[in-house]
Amino acid sequence: MKEKVNELKQEVLKKIENINDLNSLQNIKTEYFGKKGKITELSSILKELDASQKKEFGMLLNEIKTYVTSSIDSKQKEIENRILDEKLEKERIDVTLPGTVIKNGSPNMLEGLIEDLEELFIGLGYDVVEGPEVEKDLYNFELLNLPKGHPARDAQDTFYIKNDEILLRSQTSPVQVRTMLENTEKSPIRIICPGKTYRRDDDDATHSHQFTQMEGLLIDKNISLADLKGTFDIIAKHLFGDKVETRFRSSFYPFTEPSVELDVSCFNCGGKGCNICKNTGWITVGGAGMVHPKVLTNCGYDPDLMSGFAFGFGVERLAMLKYGVTDVRTFYTNDLRVNSDRKDV
Ligand code: DAH
Repeated sequence: MKEKVNELKQEVLKKIENINDLNSLQNIKTEYFGKKGKITELSSILKELDASQKKEFGMLLNEIKTYVTSSIDSKQKEIENRILDEKLEKERIDVTLPGTVIKNGSPNMLEGLIEDLEELFIGLGYDVVEGPEVEKDLYNFELLNLPKGHPARDAQDTFYIKNDEILLRSQTSPVQVRTMLENTEKSPIRIICPGKTYRRDDDDATHSHQFTQMEGLLIDKNISLADLKGTFDIIAKHLFGDKVETRFRSSFYPFTEPSVELDVSCFNCGGKGCNICKNTGWITVGGAGMVHPKVLTNCGYDPDLMSGFAFGFGVERLAMLKYGVTDVRTFYTNDLRVNSDRKDV
């Protein structure tokens, strides 16, 4: 009997030794410890033995059971560890490799252009100032020398919010007024004010009820139209290249005197005439002028001591010209190609 048990023990141990996977190990468990397993069957023999044999055989049986079970357990651990090691090796991550580059978003063309101009003006010593889009009629019109009933108001068909006092600003010029009023020392001013503006226009390829302007204001002693010309020259060359020339064309704005239209020579045909400049050789990009003495007075500046120039650009118009966009609505449809990285739309 003893021999049989020992043989069985050797047999199992040999089998366990040669095993490499959990399935086969499970099969061995069943083969020896299952209901009809070889070791289980030995236990049933136990019942038939007399007391003295029972004791000896019982101990033997217990010993083989414990031995075999612990051999199976340690084999199981060994296999599990090996599987884990293989998995770790396979899924190994090299943390020193560079990560996947996630492409950042980039500004919409309008935003990109505003940021570009902001940088230019900051370099020229200007501050960037913002003002509210819901504005008082007082700042949007009246203090800018556009009293109620002034015919020039008709050119800016305005969204009124409350009676005729509160409106959606129709231009960024009210930020000039606010800045001058807020300057209690009445010291020099150099600002640009980019921002959204609103007019009751029907939307089409060249009109939008919401659009963007960039206002500029410079106030100091002895400022003349020549300073405006020099500044405009810098802006025009920055936007459209060193070859473009600039010119003033006489115009009218109630808040400037004299007033001018700002023209650049056509960057497309060099002035010869093409469809972009409508065969004139020149493209109008904004309005400007010397701040009207009445506006200076309204905002607490003494026109005998200080003078200044102001200008206003339509940012959409600049972007359309610069990037060859033919429909202003392109800027407002969430087309991801319309960003300052992709200028091929
Ligand atoms: N606010 C004018 C407009 O919306 C543009 C403009 C013209 C602004 C002349 C100015 C200026 O500051 O001096 O049509």
